[in-house]
Amino acid sequence: MSREEPSLRRDATPRRYLMCPPAHFKVTYSINPWMDPAKPVDLPLAMAQWEDLRDRYLALGHTVETLEPDPGLPDMVFAANGALVIDGRVLGARFAHAERTGEAEIHRAWFRSHGFRDVHEPAHVNEGEGDFAVTASWILAGRGFRSSPLSHDEAQEFFGRPVIGLDLVDPRYYHLDTALCVLDGDEVMYHPEAFSPGSRAVLRRLFPDALIAGAEDAAALGLNAVSDGRHVLLPQAAAGLFGPLRDRGFEPVPMDLGELLKGGGSVKCCTQELRM
Ligand code: ARG
Repeated sequence: MSREEPSLRRDATPRRYLMCPPAHFKVTYSINPWMDPAKPVDLPLAMAQWEDLRDRYLALGHTVETLEPDPGLPDMVFAANGALVIDGRVLGARFAHAERTGEAEIHRAWFRSHGFRDVHEPAHVNEGEGDFAVTASWILAGRGFRSSPLSHDEAQEFFGRPVIGLDLVDPRYYHLDTALCVLDGDEVMYHPEAFSPGSRAVLRRLFPDALIAGAEDAAALGLNAVSDGRHVLLPQAAAGLFGPLRDRGFEPVPMDLGELLKGGGSVKCCTQELRM
């Protein structure tokens, strides 16, 4: 079916997500270029924006599990970084920065107490779904700023799925999920300039029909999006992506997570998918 076909219909599938309310969110340190500790965060607004996102998932029929926030871990709202879950098996995280180290064990403990039997404590630095993206055929894995290339081998061995390593080169796009989003199956959207020339060539080869995001939409963190196969929840400022998404049969769902952007994250960062 061609992309122009007006009858192209996408089907959403119900998902299970893990989220952590931003009860203690603040920007007191800077570990990515978005974070400026001098810029105040409006905490009630951050909470309201996060609740909007959670409520939107619920309204779309998805399940949302919540993780108890820790007062000493202000970045915990970015729950995507805490693990990678496929087929109910959990590859835990190991954070690159000391400020976030404590989050990894909290995630693993949550999985153990919620019936997940196979919870792996990793040997190498990986920031969960921040740097791992799951398509039908591959696990795409970012490196360059946070996750270690060795974590790619570790993920491949643990999940038994081919892992494609991709080099991130722009500090604003320090996690793979700030530069690339899986829309459905083996369909993705991404911002080529966030990747090394070799990685761009790999992406062109694997995804010749990908939706290409320009500089403005990428800078609005428009690729930090979550798709359920039909609805694509993304930052409202990334309006340039709405038309191309609709042309492909997806339904853009614009969200305002402006306060969380001050921490360098948006929709996807706040959402860890539990693939069962
Ligand atoms: N302040 C957090 C950090 O720099 C933001 C994490 C965003 N999460 C993500 N999945 N990209 O680690």
